[in-house]
Amino acid sequence: MSAFRVGLLGHGTVGGAFEQLLGERASAVAQLTGRTPELVGVLTRSRGDFDEILERSELIVELIGGVDPAHDYVRRALEAGRHVVTANKQLLSRHGEELWSLARERGVLLGFEAAVAGVIPVVRVLRESLAGAHVERIHGIVNGTTNFILTEMTRSGCDYADALAQAQRLGFAEADPSDDVGGADAAAKMAILARLAFGVPVHIDDVRCEGITAITSDDIAYAREFGLSLKLIGTAERLAEGISVRVHPAFLYGGHPLASVGGAFNAVTVESESITEITMSGPGAGGSQTASAVLGDVVAAIGGAQTLAAALDPLPVVEDEVSAYYLHMEVDDRPGVLAQVAQLLGDAGASIKSVVQQGVGGRAQLTMVTHPLERSRLAVALLAIEALENVRAAPRAISVINEEFV
Ligand SMILES: NC(=O)c1ccc[n+]([C@@H]2O[C@H](COP(=O)([O-])OP(=O)(O)OC[C@H]3O[C@@H](n4cnc5c(N)ncnc54)[C@H](OP(=O)(O)O)[C@@H]3O)[C@@H](O)[C@H]2O)c1
Repeated sequence: MSAFRVGLLGHGTVGGAFEQLLGERASAVAQLTGRTPELVGVLTRSRGDFDEILERSELIVELIGGVDPAHDYVRRALEAGRHVVTANKQLLSRHGEELWSLARERGVLLGFEAAVAGVIPVVRVLRESLAGAHVERIHGIVNGTTNFILTEMTRSGCDYADALAQAQRLGFAEADPSDDVGGADAAAKMAILARLAFGVPVHIDDVRCEGITAITSDDIAYAREFGLSLKLIGTAERLAEGISVRVHPAFLYGGHPLASVGGAFNAVTVESESITEITMSGPGAGGSQTASAVLGDVVAAIGGAQTLAAALDPLPVVEDEVSAYYLHMEVDDRPGVLAQVAQLLGDAGASIKSVVQQGVGGRAQLTMVTHPLERSRLAVALLAIEALENVRAAPRAISVINEEFV
């Protein structure tokens, strides 16, 4: 199987995670595409030479960030006919038009899934799945730092400065958080999303932008009192006179798909008459998550992703699985029925998390939730329970996906 030669620019949080992921997934990618991706050079401030790496590579992964020197490297790679994959929203929101048209001219791929909303495949969805849809509006929580801060202010009632300090302690905010809290990071991502959705050039300077630094705990308390959520929302929408792209804090009513997106998560809602509305959510950042989006673009560039290859390590399809269960039983309201049922469940290895018994005349309804157990063991217990004299009908069992919510 021939090698697919990849040059890597930048070896920080994402670059390091990408090298590791590439090592782990190279065989699987080869299985899928027919070519084995192989790192042929790494450039940082202290190692590697760009021209040498370019010469040896078929695809350049740019994970340096910022505009200079990333702009020069990406442009030169495209001019040389190399595919490029980048996670750099600052670069694309300023020089995207030049780079996309260069990629078109040279017939190469410029992949940027990782530049917007981390691992959420929103770029691919807009570019491919919704390519024929007439997108009316996009709303996004596209900055994890600010969403973490606002979530923390809501959860604990603390003020902005304390929530920011907490975000910095936990690694959700950088030492200099101004790009995040001032809205510039979200503005860059919204510029790229708007470009994708509406097909017109949008520069980051076209995006009206207001951050969260002026938000007070009073604003949060107001939101809570009226059942609203306060979020930093990016909007790109089609209006009668053109398009509007903006980032600002906004109150969302409780039922809005973005209202419950908490912590450092991101989410994007796309509205179009033909699809009504779809929402995608997931981790907005993180080295391994972002690296996974980068690898997806690399696989697309190799070009074999359309096939359905068999896995390298085929897994059997298992017939049994473990789950918690809600059980409902119609029983005679006699002493000892619950004990009999509990005994049979216990014999099958099921322990009961909660139980409610309600009597109606001589009958009773026994409702309970079990801790997780194998479905086959539950089936044995249910047959035995059904055979009990005081049980009036076959018990009903429904899986509980997350018992914490019960
Ligand atoms: N971190 C995330 O969770 C995340 C999420 C989504 C997107 N992104 C994007 O991914 C990209 C990389 O982010 P990151 O967090 O991995 O950054 P990072 O940890 O700061 O790493 C940057 C890397 O680029 C290298 N570099 C910086 N200036 C350079 C120069 N002039 N010449 C050559 N190499 C240079 C650095 O070299 P040294 O090793 O020598 O310092 C370092 O290896 C950025 O565009 C960022 O916006 C990051």
